[in-house]
Amino acid sequence: MINAHTFLAKLIHWTFIPLYAYGIFKQVDDLNQLEDASFLNFEILFAIIFLIIVLLRYFYMKDTPTLIGAHNELPKGHLFIAKTVHRLVYFSLIMLPTTGLLIAGIVSLGFGGVEIAVAIHEFSADLSYVVIAMHVAATLYSRFKGEGLWNAMVPIWKETEKNNSNLVSKLEVIEKKVYKEIEDKFIKG
Ligand code: HEM
Ligand code: HEM
Repeated sequence: MINAHTFLAKLIHWTFIPLYAYGIFKQVDDLNQLEDASFLNFEILFAIIFLIIVLLRYFYMKDTPTLIGAHNELPKGHLFIAKTVHRLVYFSLIMLPTTGLLIAGIVSLGFGGVEIAVAIHEFSADLSYVVIAMHVAATLYSRFKGEGLWNAMVPIWKETEKNNSNLVSKLEVIEKKVYKEIEDKFIKG
């Protein structure tokens, strides 16, 4: 049984983080900065490279099972939540450069409506913070429970065994109810 992501999947996952962080920290502070042609060209080039990397990653990962490292078979509701969060991560990461390029197009061609494009761009950045934070929190929670997912992607601070504490048993009862709700609402009907 396959229980870890490939070396390439791990490499892409971890090297993408500095690229994302760079994109977020170098953000354009002000629309007026785009009047500088070399600044604008650099932003466009960065956005195109970022977009290509996200798309290549998406197509490489799309047929890989979600939560591949789990020791036990996971409820469909659990997989549904994880897949939804991963899809939202990709959506925000595609929207960021796309709306950035839209802003560049509007500014270069002198069209109106740049404020709307900037608002969607800012929304995409905020969405990426929220869904990535959810992803990392869920991963740490899973690490705490010792489900095996962590070891499939993270090369450090490896899990050794399932956490069988009372707290985890109680949390798993709540989780089961949530998964059942999700399955009834989104999967079975
Ligand atoms: C910019 C930050 C991050 C982004 C954009 C990101 C994105 C993703 C995505 C989209 C996946 C699904 C597999 C794929 O398509 O590559 C994934 C898997 C995973 N990530 Fe992250 N991640 C980030 C940070 C982290 C961090 C900091 C951790 C650990 C604390 C982490 C742990 C994991 C684990 C364990 C998996 C495997 C889940 C599975 O098997 O389905 N990620 N990540
Ligand atoms: C992958 C590429 C990009 C990333 C990751 C990125 C990231 C960001 C972030 C995080 C913000 C701040 C959002 C907020 O305040 O919530 C921002 C704002 C902005 N970005 Fe980008 N951006 C990218 C590409 C571009 C491109 C190509 C352009 C246009 C050439 C652009 C133009 C702007 C503008 C005009 C703002 C708003 C500045 C203001 O508040 O007046 N971005 N960007």
